[in-house]
Amino acid sequence: MNFQTLLVHGYGEADPSYNAVSLPIYLTTTYRQQKFCEHEKFTYSRGANPTRQYLESLIAQMEGGKFGFAFSSGMAASAAALAALHTGDRVLVTKNIYGGTLGLLTNFYSDFGLSYGFADTGNIEKLEEAFDEKTKAVFIETPSNPLLDVTDIEAVSALAHKHGAITIVDNTFLSPYLQRPLELGADIVVESATKFLSGHSDVIAGIAAVNDEKLAGKVGAFQRLAGGIAQPFDSYLIVRGIKTLGVRIDRQTENAGKIAVFLSKEPAVQKLYYPGLPDHPGYAVNRRQSKGPGSMLSFDLSPGYDTAAFFDSLELLAVGASLGSVETLVQHPATGSHSNFTPEQRREAGIGDRLVRISAGIEDSGDIIEDLRRAFAQSKGDNHA
Ligand SMILES: Cc1ncc(COP(=O)(O)O)c(C=O)c1O
Repeated sequence: MNFQTLLVHGYGEADPSYNAVSLPIYLTTTYRQQKFCEHEKFTYSRGANPTRQYLESLIAQMEGGKFGFAFSSGMAASAAALAALHTGDRVLVTKNIYGGTLGLLTNFYSDFGLSYGFADTGNIEKLEEAFDEKTKAVFIETPSNPLLDVTDIEAVSALAHKHGAITIVDNTFLSPYLQRPLELGADIVVESATKFLSGHSDVIAGIAAVNDEKLAGKVGAFQRLAGGIAQPFDSYLIVRGIKTLGVRIDRQTENAGKIAVFLSKEPAVQKLYYPGLPDHPGYAVNRRQSKGPGSMLSFDLSPGYDTAAFFDSLELLAVGASLGSVETLVQHPATGSHSNFTPEQRREAGIGDRLVRISAGIEDSGDIIEDLRRAFAQSKGDNHA
């Protein structure tokens, strides 16, 4: 089945009972035992629920994995992936990784003896130098949040395996429509389903997919026992969002390309980060391992433009957290997604105070660009109050 068709028709029949075309929402928490201690398929909805199970089967198929999991947030999915590690292990993480992922490591897992180190995961030689005998995982984002650095998933996975470690990929920025890390050798893929999968700024959720049975056992046990499960209604909304994932991402990527061309000529932009432009250092690798550059881009505002005035001058575009939605969203990583980093960590990762991140939506690209143009003009020099 073609991937686009899989997105719409999903895994098997949505409703074998009544042949409903859309997925039924089973709000039940429990299931009547047929006889004392005899259950049919389901026992209790923290463990498994028909609506969530349908989504989880779809996730597995989309990611090219054997096992799929749906969580209450992207963070719950990342927490489950990291829970596959042990006390004394060390994890190497992409330098500019989502701030919440760093927060998990610094606030919780470090207390349980899991250490971490930042690495330039885009540079395989440097990454190999960063390995030591305690390194049991590499956690990468590609393209990364917020600087769109690209990491070669196949090369990192091979390197990790050579050292007896696993590779975890946060695939939030591209989604399985554009990139399937498990097929490139990664061991666990996680994603914030809050973003492209649901796509309409109305669900907080996460997913994970795995091939290895032992790893799946760990991720699944964390899901069921910590209980950070996707709820039935949210599972339904994600399945609904997935039906339009392909058409949304095609349109968002087209808009991002147009925005990138505009920004590349704009004096208000000092440096542009977009892996869809041939001069981006990760262009070739991203082209090889994915079906497209996606719709996330970032830029440094030029000196002479006021950052706060730029954000406050936007009228159409929403300034706020999150990404991957039908609306274009603009965010300030230093005070938003990466406020968990210390100023020193942000400096080392290259996340400056003038960095702006854009998630291109599906609006008319001319309207998006016009709003940016106005905000640049109003934030220039003495133009702002
Ligand atoms: C790359 C990335 N991973 C994970 C997350 C966490 O996802 P959630 O907010 O659904 O917990 C985010 C959230 O912004 C993200 O950008």
